Formats: sequence, structure tokens, C-alpha cells
Amino acid sequence: MTENYKPLSDVPVTRKQIENCTFSNWYPLFKEYAPKTEIIKPIPHEFIQYLEQDGITLPKEHDPSFYTVPLEKNEENEYSDWEEDGEQNYSDDSSDDEDVEKLRKVNPLEDFPEFHNQLKSVLDKFGSVAPKLNWSAPQDATWILPNNSMKCNEVNEIYLLLNASNYIMHDLQYAFDDCVDAKESLQKPTFELVLRQWFDINPALEFRVFVKDKEVIGASQRDLNYYDFLKPLTNTFKDLIDEFVEDTVLPKFSDDSFVLDIYIPRPFNKVFLIDINPFARKTDSLMFSWNELMTTKKTDEDDYELRIVLKNNTGRFACKEHSENQVPDDVVQASLDPNSIRELAVKWKELLAMQKKEETNDVI
Ligand SMILES: Nc1ncnc2c1ncn2[C@@H]1O[C@H](COP(=O)(O)OP(=O)(O)OP(=O)(O)O)[C@@H](O)[C@H]1O
Ligand SMILES: [Mg+2]
Repeated sequence: MTENYKPLSDVPVTRKQIENCTFSNWYPLFKEYAPKTEIIKPIPHEFIQYLEQDGITLPKEHDPSFYTVPLEKNEENEYSDWEEDGEQNYSDDSSDDEDVEKLRKVNPLEDFPEFHNQLKSVLDKFGSVAPKLNWSAPQDATWILPNNSMKCNEVNEIYLLLNASNYIMHDLQYAFDDCVDAKESLQKPTFELVLRQWFDINPALEFRVFVKDKEVIGASQRDLNYYDFLKPLTNTFKDLIDEFVEDTVLPKFSDDSFVLDIYIPRPFNKVFLIDINPFARKTDSLMFSWNELMTTKKTDEDDYELRIVLKNNTGRFACKEHSENQVPDDVVQASLDPNSIRELAVKWKELLAMQKKEETNDVI
């Protein structure tokens, strides 16, 4: 039996390869193909502490902000656990007075006011931004903003998104973890905050391109929903991808293997570069498997495949990207399976009933 199993292919990656994919390393080379961006590097140590600490403390400034204006208590928003003091502190901090100083939370206005003002001036210049650190964007934390996207119109939205994201924590703490030479140096990367001017992207037209030893070995649709207009366009996309990799990226990028994220909007005559990722298992291989990417042997006549989703998959559609990092798994599973929905609804009812009972007891 066991001879039917193939061993998992190794996809070795070095610290240098990861470093090459730091936003500020590739952006200056391909500036004219990427959205307008401001990179703040290095970022103050206090800001990193702010991201790593528990809870989210938003600055209370004079300018009105949706996030810090005290809510007026009314019939619609009256909750049993309403806090009386109206603090804009999203943490579960309940320290005693004597511990207050020890546990003092890092706070933008006191601990990194200059950086805070820098963020505000970038927002003034760009209007709205999509933030990320050296490698990762907080795609898992969009649930925290009312628009449910990474679009930040004000500085508090940048703070909320970055603080709520596990992907950001990965950049801060585990960036080099899977590298073959991880143990050779314990040096931390120089962290940077990347603020890209927001532009509305049609997710159907985003692609991920796998380049190994200077050759495109595969490309995949990035948003894995079905879009019926894509299939007849695959040759157009491939021509643009080939030309972009060959003429623009390979002559300038300092690695032979990497994974590109590109965007090809209508009228399909220009490629935008969204990101360059390490050729490593931690980069999602989307419609391929890493084993497949590592083992396909290409001959000169062989062409690579641009994989797109060919039919509607309702299960996939219900499973929103990054949802596994956004809401409890029970809820995601329930959205895929009617029985689980029923089960969840029953549990939910029980919880509501318990809460009601508790409230009634409180009154008595
Ligand atoms: N300037 C922008 N305006 C609007 N949306 C953007 C912008 N830049 C990126 N995005 C959206 O954000 C998504 C994620 O961005 P990006 O690829 O930089 O994140 P990432 O963390 O590197 O993702 P991955 O982990 O998959 O490599 C993109 O697929 C794109 O849809
Ligand atoms: Mg990326």
C-alpha cells in the first residue's frame, strides 16, 4: 500500500529569498506597475509593541472619529453589558490601580505621535489606503471594519485592522521560521508599514504566477469563485503574463524563483504588480499543489497552464476567502451544510434563552 504514497516535495526557502520579497525591496524596481505607495521604514519600536499588546487602544483626538465618539445609549443599542464609562478601549483590561502603570498600554498619541501624524498625512494625500507590513496584508481582519474590506479612510481604521490581524502577527514574529537557514541568524527584520493608495480591484482579474528558475511554471486565478467571462480570455492573459515576466520582472528581480500577484484590468493591455511572494510553501499555491509545482517537468514545447475556475461551486462560494481566520469555524461550517445551520440555530436559541433567564434573575 505505502508505495502509492509520494513523499511531500521539499520547497526550500532561504532568509534572503524572504528578504527579497519585502515590499520596499521590490517596489522601487517596479514602481510604475504598482499602485501608488508610501512606505514608512523603519517603524517605531513603540508601534510594534502597540500591535503586539493585547487589546486595541484607539487615540482620543479632538477631530471627530466614528470609532471614538461616545455612543449615545438608546433603545436600539442597549446591551446588558453596557460599559458606563464610555472608554474606547477594545481590551479586556481590568487591572487594579497599583498595576495600572505596569500594565500601561502603548498609546499612539503618547508613544508614537510623529508616526501617528505621518499616517494621517499619507491618508490626506491618498484619501484611502490598503495597509500591509513587509509581506502581509491584514486580509483576515476585515470583519473589524464596517465596510468589511481593507479600505482605510482614517487612521483608526489602520490601527483596528493591523491590531486584529494574525497575518500581521506572522510578519512580526515568524517571518523566517520555515527558512532552511532560519537558525543561522536570529536577527529580526526591519519592519515597515506599507500604505498603498486604494483603488477598486475586480477580484476576478487577479492572478498568481509561479516562476521557477526564471520560467513561468503555472498561473492561477487568485479569487477562487467562478467568473464565466474568464475562459475565452485565457490566451490574452497568458500573453500579457509572459511578456511581463520576461521583459519586466526577470531582468530586475534578484531571485530566479518567486510568486507574482498581478492584476489585469480591462481593456487587458497592462499588467499591475500587486505583490511578489517567496517561492515557498507558506505562499498559497491556490489551484495547484506545491507538490505538483515542484514535480512537473516542462519541456521546451510544453506550455504552462493558467488555471481558472470552470464551473460554479456553491460550497466554495459560501466559503469566503480567509474566513477560517475571521469567524469561528462552527459558523463557516454551518454556512456550508444545512444540518449544521439547524444545529447552530438551536444552540443559538438555547444561548439566547439562557441570557434572557439571567437577565430576568438580575431584575429580581
Ligand atoms: N491598493 C490597493 N487597493 C485596493 N485593494 C488592494 C490594493 N492592494 C492590494 N489590494 C487587495 O488586497 C489583496 C491582498 O493584498 P496582498 O496580495 O498585498 O496581500 P498579501 O498579504 O501579500 O496576500 P498573500 O498572503 O496572499 O500573499 C489583493 O489581492 C488585492 O485584492
Ligand atoms: Mg503576498
